[in-house]
Amino acid sequence: MATIRSSSSGILSADRAQQREEVVEMLKKAYWMEIETVMNYVTNSINPDGVRAQEIRESLEEDIQEELGHAQQFANRIKELYGVVPGSLDFTPEQSFLQPPEHQTDVVHVIKGVIEAETGAIEHYNRIVEFTDGLDPVTNDMVITILHDEEGHRRLFEGFLREYEAEGLA
Ligand SMILES: [Fe+2]
Ligand SMILES: [Fe+2]
Repeated sequence: MATIRSSSSGILSADRAQQREEVVEMLKKAYWMEIETVMNYVTNSINPDGVRAQEIRESLEEDIQEELGHAQQFANRIKELYGVVPGSLDFTPEQSFLQPPEHQTDVVHVIKGVIEAETGAIEHYNRIVEFTDGLDPVTNDMVITILHDEEGHRRLFEGFLREYEAEGLA
C-alpha cells in the first residue's frame, strides 16, 4: 500500500511540525477573538438607545458578517495546517470592555469598547504576520488582508469618537 508523501518543503513539511503547531495556536486565539467580537457586536448593534446610537448600531450590524467571515477563514486555515478547530467549551471570554454599559444611551462606552477590541485584534494579527513571515506565506497573506479590515474598522470608530470628543462628551 502506497503511503502519502508528506510535503518536502514549506509549512506542511514534517520538519516544520513544531512551528506549524505554534501557528495553529496563534490562529486559534485569533478565531476566538473573532467569535467573541461577533457576540459582542450583535449585542451592541441592538442595545444602544437614542438618535445618535443609530449610526453605531448600523455600523456594527454590518461588521458582524465581516467578523464572522474572518472567524471562518481562521478556522479553515487551522484545519489546513492539520489542527482541529476548537469547540465552545474551550472558549474563555476576554472582552470585558464590550459588555453592556449601565445606561444604554452611553454610546461613547460602546465606541471605546469597539476601538479596544479592534486594537487587540490588530496587535495579535501583527504578531501572526511577523511570525509567519518567510515561514508560512499563505497564512501571512491571509492575515495581512484581515489586518487591513481591522485597521479600517478601528479608523471608522476613531472617527466616531472624535465627534464626541469635539463636543466634550468623551
Ligand atoms: Fe475581524
Ligand atoms: Fe474588526
